[in-house]
Amino acid sequence: MGLNMAMIKTAEEIKNIRAAAKIVSEILSYGISILEPGITTAELDSQIENEIKRRGVTGPCKGYNGFPCVSCLSVNDQVTHGIPDGSILKNGDIIDIDLVINMDGYYGDTSKTVGIGDISLEAKKLIKITEDCLTRGINEVKPGNTLGDIGCAIQTHAERNGYSVVRDYSGHFIGLSMHENPMVLNYGKKKKGVELEPGMVFCIEPMINIGRKEVLTKGWDARTIDGELSSRCEHMVLVTNKGHEVLTYHK
Ligand code: MF3
Ligand code: CO
Ligand code: CO
Repeated sequence: MGLNMAMIKTAEEIKNIRAAAKIVSEILSYGISILEPGITTAELDSQIENEIKRRGVTGPCKGYNGFPCVSCLSVNDQVTHGIPDGSILKNGDIIDIDLVINMDGYYGDTSKTVGIGDISLEAKKLIKITEDCLTRGINEVKPGNTLGDIGCAIQTHAERNGYSVVRDYSGHFIGLSMHENPMVLNYGKKKKGVELEPGMVFCIEPMINIGRKEVLTKGWDARTIDGELSSRCEHMVLVTNKGHEVLTYHK
């Protein structure tokens, strides 16, 4: 796959990537709107797949290294890449809906963790802090700052709240393929790593655990080693001359 695409996108490419980001955001909103206790993750995925088709785009996760579905649906202690199946969502669960679309060769990728019905205060706090980690990471995005500044902001906020940052998975550049180099780590040191320049487009996607940072991965299945909750949210961000533009949105 095209991992080594140019890090700086052209104006034309940015226009198309922005459009793909808008569509994937709308499809994520749709997915969130049909969540209810009793639905299985396979049903949720198939509704999302219908919506993807209805809009004339494709879901490139399906078939990606053998991944079987258009959406990654990660429930409770699942960290990422949850495969939709017959599991029934119930009151109190949290689920990360992570979607990628391909529109005419341009990619959009976004995710959000939401609760089903009434969730615990602990789960609410985890989701909120994870979103705040993403916001703090995004706020570091401007020319002259580095990928390390982003990772440091995320890690500092998570750990200050007693949570841990997953190391096994990370964000990534994106645009002409789903995953482009370099990776965008959710931890790091200020002033380290690639320096940001206008025209770069990447996904920031912190995965934050209540307990230990270690993940048990078996094939696609990736769960926290201690069975505690994990939350994730993801935005696509463009570096602009003055700062940044967030290309995806969560409603
Ligand atoms: N959407 C995920 C990400 O944020 C990747 C999906 S992997 C796939 O990077 F196997 F589902 F395609
Ligand atoms: Co994603
Ligand atoms: Co991503």
